[in-house]
Amino acid sequence: MKDLINNYLEEIHSFHPGTSSELEEFRLRFLSKKGILSELFDQFKHLPQEQKKETGRLLNDLKNAAVSKYEQFQEYLKQTAGPISKVSDLSLPGQNIPLSSRHPISIVRKEISEIFSRLGFTIADGPEIEDDWHVFSALNFPPEHPARDMQDTFFIEQKPDILLRTHTSSVQVRVMENTQPPIRMIMPGRVFRNEAISARAHCIFHQVEGLYIDKNVSFADLKQTLLYFAREMFGQNTKVRLRPSFFPFTEPSAEFDVSCTICKGNGCNICKYTGWLEILGCGMVDPNVLSLNGIDPSIYSGYAFGMGIERIAQLTFQVRDLRLYFENDIRFLHQFSPHLHFTY
Ligand code: PHE
Repeated sequence: MKDLINNYLEEIHSFHPGTSSELEEFRLRFLSKKGILSELFDQFKHLPQEQKKETGRLLNDLKNAAVSKYEQFQEYLKQTAGPISKVSDLSLPGQNIPLSSRHPISIVRKEISEIFSRLGFTIADGPEIEDDWHVFSALNFPPEHPARDMQDTFFIEQKPDILLRTHTSSVQVRVMENTQPPIRMIMPGRVFRNEAISARAHCIFHQVEGLYIDKNVSFADLKQTLLYFAREMFGQNTKVRLRPSFFPFTEPSAEFDVSCTICKGNGCNICKYTGWLEILGCGMVDPNVLSLNGIDPSIYSGYAFGMGIERIAQLTFQVRDLRLYFENDIRFLHQFSPHLHFTY
């Protein structure tokens, strides 16, 4: 038995594993329950008493050598060969790169744009820093209109008036300046109003406005377009209604309501038990606005509408607190997937 142990000792001393699987083989061979060491200790019990002392010492040496070799290389392979052998194992499955998600405002803006593009609307863009003319004067706002006041508008310079646009109607002005009808465009974009930030209001938000100018455009065209939009956006059973309203740049003007997307018109706390949700303002472009922008109102007529994207997103995703859209909390953002009929 002594010879056998000495042979094993030699084997252990000359053993240098190159990979963790070789080390594992070593462990199974020497240190496992049915391994060499436990077998030798079993045999040791049956040795005659006079051999026990020396053999016992040798056997302990063997055990210590095996354990320390194993531990030494376990540590060494962890630091060096371990990761290398992992990397070089080409049969391992690849790691997925986690996909990010679109911001809910982008999802809804894209969906609104797609619906109107199916009706032939194209997208127009314009600056966020504007002048008084494009945001107010060209849109028939009287000089004393409260929207021009510091309380609503962020002014960058007072004279001449340079300001952050309060609505994307300014892009409508820029389109009319440069294009003769037919005009059929939507204007998505960021707008700014001097409001205290709360769950229901923010000083930055997003709009999509629309403008359609051609010969013989009537209020019926406006209504049909908005009905199509509402049904595509909120479902084919959506009902709509128009209520008289006022905007300086449209005449007549209206607010456009859809049947509540949550309770389907039966009354709930979202629609304040009315069954209706207001989603946009609209109207026939005021003939004054057409003339101010170089379009002859005796030949052309048109309609315009404007909606807040946050409002539509709130109805689509039922997020009650507007501030969440601006905080960019990853846990919030990852919850949104595109609307069912929305194509990525
Ligand atoms: N510009 C208006 C707003 O910001 C919305 C609107 C656009 C209303 C076009 C009527 C026509 O509130």
